[in-house]
Amino acid sequence: MELCKISEGKAKIEVPKFEKITAKTPVFYNPKMAFSRDISVSVMNAIKLRSSEKVLDGLSGSGIRGIRYILESNAEVQFNDHNPAATRLIERNLGLNSINALVTKSDFNHIYGKFDVVDIDPFGSPVKFLDGGFRILKNDSYLFLTATDTSALTGAHASSCRRKYDSKPLKCSFAHELAVRILIGKVVRNAAKYNLSPRPLLSYTKEHFIRIYFEIKYGKQRTNKNLDRLGFAIKCKCGYRKATKEYHFFCPNCNEKISFSHPLWISEIKDSIFVGDCIKEYESMEFLKDKPLALLKTIKNEIDIPLFYDIHEIAHIYKTKIPKTEEIVKRLEELGFSASVTHFSPVSVKTDANINEMLRCING
Ligand SMILES: C[S@@+](CC[C@H](N)C(=O)[O-])C[C@H]1O[C@@H](n2cnc3c(N)ncnc32)[C@H](O)[C@@H]1O
Ligand SMILES: [Zn+2]
Repeated sequence: MELCKISEGKAKIEVPKFEKITAKTPVFYNPKMAFSRDISVSVMNAIKLRSSEKVLDGLSGSGIRGIRYILESNAEVQFNDHNPAATRLIERNLGLNSINALVTKSDFNHIYGKFDVVDIDPFGSPVKFLDGGFRILKNDSYLFLTATDTSALTGAHASSCRRKYDSKPLKCSFAHELAVRILIGKVVRNAAKYNLSPRPLLSYTKEHFIRIYFEIKYGKQRTNKNLDRLGFAIKCKCGYRKATKEYHFFCPNCNEKISFSHPLWISEIKDSIFVGDCIKEYESMEFLKDKPLALLKTIKNEIDIPLFYDIHEIAHIYKTKIPKTEEIVKRLEELGFSASVTHFSPVSVKTDANINEMLRCING
């Protein structure tokens, strides 16, 4: 395997020379995912682990993620990958950074031990690692999760979403928000049988991937309440949308038949105070890049209400002109609504206004 040197954050590692990144690369490394790793380091610092607490980089690849957690967050990390070429490379990369850590070559679902943080960063869907993850997470812990199978979650491959997530997705302008909510819903339902209740602290989508950071707590009552936060997303051709506990057959706005997605998480997808802590941690590390910080700031200010409105879509339905996103936010606020731009889409807004109030703002 021919190697080349790269540096990312405070880490200097070697990775296989590659033409195109695929699951078949001898050891997986995607330079574009530095974006996700930069944010992960700030999250790791924001959760303020005690020195005895343990992090599992469960699907390590080259080890870059865990090595950065050690160098930039002072975490105690165990590395794991079932690919022997990966574990050999991780050992080599630990040496290059003059650090020691336990490296295991196990199937993720057979890892032994209990951890305070488990990071599951697969190529594709994380669902087949959820049971394994909940088995090794402590009662008070954190789960970091990536999904790159956005085509399933956004409804381009609806049958795949049904099989993996046991959810019906919906192809629509806010499909990426539904994707995040379907993934959270799956994690919450999967955790419930262990009396565990995951709560999303930070969730985002970017290009081909979704990343969600959960706080995990134990308790039957808490878990029951968590399950109460699952429901439907309904949508109509008139632009009406709603996250709701009950299924509707007809649109409350125009009486036409509605489309729906179910089951999914209809509650908060972030904890604003926690995102603020991540921003502070991020700003204290000057070597990190600017773009992930801009995303964190957008998310911090985002109204946490389902489901966002795509201004172009509403303008298209009602054949109106298309005002600037910021202008709509301003008009909504002037009318007394909560409103913000959203990281999900640059031409969309989050608001507690309904479709008719939105339309009034678009028409000026
Ligand atoms: C997307 S890569 C990990 C990338 C890495 N976390 C990073 O930030 O660069 C996924 C890794 O999971 C490993 N893997 C896939 N299935 C596994 C399993 N069942 N058990 C353990 N490792 C597995 C693959 O060998 C691959 O190295
Ligand atoms: Zn309608």
